[in-house]
Amino acid sequence: MGSDDTAGTNPSATSSASAKETVGREAARSHVRSGMKVGMGTGSTAIWAIREVGALLASGALTTITAVATSTQSELECQRLGIPLRAMNDPEIGGRLDLTIDGADEIDPAFNLVKGGGGALLIEKIVAYASDTFVVVAEPRKLVERLGDSFAVPLEVLPLARVPVMRALQTLGGEPVVREAARKMGAVITDNGNIIVDVRFPAPFDPPAMDAALASIPGVLCNGLFTKTHPIVLVAREDGTVETLQPAR
Ligand code: A5P
Repeated sequence: MGSDDTAGTNPSATSSASAKETVGREAARSHVRSGMKVGMGTGSTAIWAIREVGALLASGALTTITAVATSTQSELECQRLGIPLRAMNDPEIGGRLDLTIDGADEIDPAFNLVKGGGGALLIEKIVAYASDTFVVVAEPRKLVERLGDSFAVPLEVLPLARVPVMRALQTLGGEPVVREAARKMGAVITDNGNIIVDVRFPAPFDPPAMDAALASIPGVLCNGLFTKTHPIVLVAREDGTVETLQPAR
């Protein structure tokens, strides 16, 4: 969940880490071109795309790109690698990007996504929806038959709206939990100063309808269902190859 699992000697953790690197680097090599405005995703897979862009710039294979970060994590990595960053509102970006590369927590057969395992869903959604091309990088385990069966849907919630939002989620049949921080007491506080509520839905749901229902709750600033992005999905297979999955247009 938004974390790097390279630690330890567990062979499946090692192969998962190498799959993330393979697919992240491949996405950058196959999709980023000089002159592009590129959204830089968040998480332990997307960070490899950022690292590959840094390497391509350093080698001269890429000349110019302008990046928009989706989180403090991606901002720090871009700065570390000397990748030029701008804000979405910067005139050079003009609120529109050529490409964004990001990870996902779940991907269904209709290419709907759950995102937000790393708590960066609000900026990720703004950036993805403002991109001409959205590339999702993932391991095979992220491909699921139905969203929400094994991963709760994250919401970014205005702190003062916590209780009415939790009540509204229960009315929708959900089981909401405020996400607890690690190495800090209390709730996770997002890059935007809000809290994360993870909501499980015991009954199956229609992703676009649930996306709309969650978006209509006052105080929910963003929900982790991405149902309108039509991403190109790059999946790292166990044999080291990368498969491209694309919705029919
Ligand atoms: C960050 O908020 C998330 O949307 C991540 O993109 C998502 O959790 C995937 O992260 P990993 O690549 O670390 O699994």
